[in-house]
Amino acid sequence: MHILFSKPLFPNILGITVVLILSGWLMVQAQGNWIFIIAIILVEFLVISIIFMQFYNKYARPLNKASKTVNEMIKGNYSARFNNSNSKEMEQLSKNINKLARNMNEITIQEQMQAEQLTSIIDNMKNGLALIDEKGYVHLVNRGFLEMFQGEDKQYRGHLYYDVFENEAMHNVVQETFLYEQPVKEQFKNERGLTKNYMEVIAAPVFNEHNMIKGAVLVIYDITELKRLEKMRKDFVANVSHELRTPITSIRGFAETLKEKQHDEQAAEEFIEIIYKESHRLQLLIEDLLELSRLEREDFQLEKERFNAKQMIDEVLPQLEQKAAKKDLDFTTSISPDTDVYADSDKLKQVIINLVDNAINYTPSGGNIHLSINEENERVHILIEDTGIGIEQKATSRVFERFYRVDKDRSRNTGGTGLGLAIVKHIVEVHQGEIVLESEVDKGTAVHVYIPKP
Ligand SMILES: Nc1ncnc2c1ncn2[C@@H]1O[C@H](COP(=O)(O)OP(=O)(O)OP(=O)(O)O)[C@@H](O)[C@H]1O
Ligand SMILES: [Mg+2]
Repeated sequence: MHILFSKPLFPNILGITVVLILSGWLMVQAQGNWIFIIAIILVEFLVISIIFMQFYNKYARPLNKASKTVNEMIKGNYSARFNNSNSKEMEQLSKNINKLARNMNEITIQEQMQAEQLTSIIDNMKNGLALIDEKGYVHLVNRGFLEMFQGEDKQYRGHLYYDVFENEAMHNVVQETFLYEQPVKEQFKNERGLTKNYMEVIAAPVFNEHNMIKGAVLVIYDITELKRLEKMRKDFVANVSHELRTPITSIRGFAETLKEKQHDEQAAEEFIEIIYKESHRLQLLIEDLLELSRLEREDFQLEKERFNAKQMIDEVLPQLEQKAAKKDLDFTTSISPDTDVYADSDKLKQVIINLVDNAINYTPSGGNIHLSINEENERVHILIEDTGIGIEQKATSRVFERFYRVDKDRSRNTGGTGLGLAIVKHIVEVHQGEIVLESEVDKGTAVHVYIPKP
């Protein structure tokens, strides 16, 4: 009942009532005059029509427009607007509808931005990512995934995972995730043509709000580099053990023989000499290993200073010349007198001593060794050349590996540990320098070291 007295309706109902009462009264006054009665009905009709028209224009037509605007918004068109100021009520309604549209527009833009950010994160992550629903259909694979397995999006999306994932390990992790509803991890080899990569896949279940499994998300990492480092570490431990075992076995063997006391004086001296040499070798090996581990420490600090190259060489020259002379080698130097170096002088000396030592060790008597230092394009160029046995092409890059020796026996005879060049390379690299080795079998070797100028 109260709706009749509501604001938009009441004045119109009142108006119509007044018109009806007035026309009723006029008809009674007309006393059967038909012409007058028809005229009253026409006027009554006209007045009521005008009232309805006004009501329609003021409320029904705007409501119709408002409804159309809301319909547009339902369809997702949040730029639709409704403007009407025919009445206070319509003005309020239009303001509210427009505010709603603006809010919805903002929310949609934010959602779009978030979705775009998420897509961009998913696509730009280096790891592979795949999303599988509870029925086993692939819903999403990112760019990283497609690069890892060299496929196209349409090959995977919408297909059953066991039809499109080639690797058995990937099937297993999905099955186990659905079975145990827990994250599962597995490693596998991914062979693509000639390249072989090691991968790790982690599958995790996805639950809905009722804690029911809804699918699984798979993240695939390329762990090739990690595997390589792991292998390097294992090889290193094996190499160190092997290198330590040789002198220790020898020391122990000769010590045991000495203990048995079944030998003459001269043999005893020989044995002691061997024990001494081998223990010296052990010491060198341990010192080199410690040096390498010091250089590899993250907090390793070079003690850099500016010094003259010629002065530095003068400090080590007598010891090098003596060694070369002992082997009847011609050792010459050419060092430009004004060349200054900015480096850790002890470490740079170690580099030069190591390289000249190699030149001496691997050059037969009568050969030549030349050391030169010059400035070249903002770098100091240190060059050590010999006319020795040389290194075959395929070994030139490997000589910088720890314990690598071209000829194990010959190198061991020189007392070498096989760590010299590894240490040299490390020192050059911590100086942001470069080392290049050129060699030809039976012709000789040239090692170039470049240290940047500050
Ligand atoms: N100038 C050179 N001429 C020929 N071969 C070389 C020369 N320098 C290095 N090599 C080869 O490279 C290998 C690695 O050298 P590196 O200096 O690392 O070890 P090493 O000399 O055997 O032992 P050390 O650790 O005592 O130096 C050597 O065993 C040798 O075979
Ligand atoms: Mg050496």
